[in-house]
Amino acid sequence: MYLIVGATGNVGSEVVGQLLAAQKQVRVFTRDASKVSHLKGPIEVAVGDLMQADTFARAVAGVEGVFLMNGPLEGEAFRRLIAQAKASGNPRVVFLSTLFAAYPDSLVGELHKDKEDVIRASGLPHSFVRAGNFMTNTFQWLETIKSEGVVYNATGDAKTAPVAPQDIAAVAVQALTKPDTPEGFEVLEVTGGELLTVPEQAGIVSRVTGRPIRVVEINSEQAEQGLLKAGLPSFMAKAVAGCYEEIRNGKVAFVRDAVQNAKGSLPVTYADWVESQRTQLA
Ligand SMILES: NC(=O)c1ccc[n+]([C@@H]2O[C@H](COP(=O)([O-])OP(=O)(O)OC[C@H]3O[C@@H](n4cnc5c(N)ncnc54)[C@H](OP(=O)(O)O)[C@@H]3O)[C@@H](O)[C@H]2O)c1
Repeated sequence: MYLIVGATGNVGSEVVGQLLAAQKQVRVFTRDASKVSHLKGPIEVAVGDLMQADTFARAVAGVEGVFLMNGPLEGEAFRRLIAQAKASGNPRVVFLSTLFAAYPDSLVGELHKDKEDVIRASGLPHSFVRAGNFMTNTFQWLETIKSEGVVYNATGDAKTAPVAPQDIAAVAVQALTKPDTPEGFEVLEVTGGELLTVPEQAGIVSRVTGRPIRVVEINSEQAEQGLLKAGLPSFMAKAVAGCYEEIRNGKVAFVRDAVQNAKGSLPVTYADWVESQRTQLA
């Protein structure tokens, strides 16, 4: 039995689907059972909230593996969560982290690295799935694409290797279920297979959806203001704007082979992913 935290999210929902397809037993953790009512197969629903420790303690009991993502708990509260997992029977923890964890001087990197350190120190068997730029971040452009025909870009001509949620999930599922293979290694850097700039990504979205899109260059401060305006808490807006700085400095302009190792085939291309999301992006 595997417990999936963030089971209704971009990556967690794919982890659930792939585990079910592999006939694994799955327990999904969600604050809202109606979000998973469509799921069929060997599945249990654990309604809970990471902010309510007793709900997680019940959900983690007796599982052999936990897919965990960054959530609302920090510091001592996160340490207690991991202690609960350990007390429940030493499950393997696969933590959805970020490439920026290699750069803990960035705020996002620090937030994830701190959690990796807590998991490592707990002695639980673990893997850290350090993912790169999610293709699903494209949805954050939708509002200004629709209202102004614009994508605001704080990363200039710097490149990332955008990665599809199903490919991140493929690596996580291997790490959960086949820990004795290379996919069970402690740190798995997970990227897509091609390096793209934001203008190149926007060009692909424009071509697939048929919408003209202009890319407008902004600096990190302007990006932070935009994120605040979009409703992000100030701490998060600062953290995300910090990521743009790191990208601009070329820190994540590389391709790794973790997805290919896990799937045995090439990562999903950005063009194919956009095509698969054409209705939502149009
Ligand atoms: N965006 C990127 O480029 C990027 C890159 C690398 C790593 N990451 C990591 O990926 C994470 C986002 O992953 P995602 O896009 O798959 O997530 P997502 O789609 O934003 O979904 C968030 C999930 O978190 C769950 N959740 C939120 N608060 C919760 C709480 N208090 N208790 C229990 N569950 C809670 C939600 O579950 P319910 O609503 O069902 O309860 C939902 O399933 C980021 O936080 C970051 O750590 C992101």
